[in-house]
Amino acid sequence: MNARHSRCPRPEVMIFRHREQLFREAAERFARAAERSAASGERFSVALAGGKTPIPMHRLLAEQPYRKLIPWARVHLFWSDERCVPPSDAASNYKRAKTALLDHVPLPQGNVHRIPGEREPQASARSYETELRTFFRGERVRFDLVILGVGADGHTASLFPDTPALREEHRLAVATTAPEGTEPRKRVSLTLPVINAARSVLFLVTGSEKADIVHTVLEQGRRDLPAGRVCPEAGRLTWLVDVAAGSRLSGISRAESGG
Ligand code: 6PG
Repeated sequence: MNARHSRCPRPEVMIFRHREQLFREAAERFARAAERSAASGERFSVALAGGKTPIPMHRLLAEQPYRKLIPWARVHLFWSDERCVPPSDAASNYKRAKTALLDHVPLPQGNVHRIPGEREPQASARSYETELRTFFRGERVRFDLVILGVGADGHTASLFPDTPALREEHRLAVATTAPEGTEPRKRVSLTLPVINAARSVLFLVTGSEKADIVHTVLEQGRRDLPAGRVCPEAGRLTWLVDVAAGSRLSGISRAESGG
C-alpha cells in the first residue's frame, strides 16, 4: 500500500486556548531541541515555516529568555519553502523571518541558508539542493526540526494538492506553482521525502479559517492532501493548534489542552 493510503500514526495534538501559549510551546520546543543538539556537540538544523502564522514564534525566539538560552552559533536556519521574490520583498518568507528574528539574535551569517527566491525557480531549487547536500555533508538530509503551516486547501510548505511535486521521491527541493489566487505563485519547496526524514515536525495552526482543514487532515486522515502526507518515518509529528483552528476536532486524542 503506498503512502497515499497507509495511515500515519496518530500525531500529538495540543490545543491552546490562547495563541500566546501555542507560540511559547513552539519556542520552548525549538529551544530545547537546539540545546540538546548543542549539548551533544552537534549543529541544530531547522527549517522554518513560511506564511504569517509562525511570526509570533520568531519574535518570541528573539526575546529573553530564548535569545540568551539558545546556542545560536550552533543553529542553522533553513526554510520549508520560499516565494520566488527578492529577499527584500515583503512576501519573502526569509524577509519575514529576518525582520522578526534574524536581525535580533547573534546568528552567524553563515548559519542562514535561505532559498534564493530572486533566481529563476528551477535554478533556485537546484541551488538550494546543493546547499542542503553541502550542509548535510553528502549524508541523508535529515533536519532536527521542520516547522510547517497548513493552508485551507491542505497545502503545506509550497506543496499544493494534486500536483506532481507530491509524487517527488528523489529531489530535495523543487519549483512549484501555487493555484490561481494564491500569490506569489512561483515557489520553491522542500519535498515530502525531506520533510518526512526529519527528527521532528511541528505544525503551527491558528484561526477559524483552518478549522475545516485541521479536521479533514487529522480526523478524516486525508493522506491525499499535502499536509496529510506529512508523516515522519522515524520522527515525531506534533500539531499545535489554537481553539479556533481545533474547533472541529472531536474524536482525536488530545495529548493535552494547552490551557
Ligand atoms: C507559505 C507557507 C505556507 C503556509 C500556509 C499557511 O510560504 O505560504 O509555507 O505553506 O505555511 O499557507 O500560511 P499562513 O500561516 O499565512 O496562514
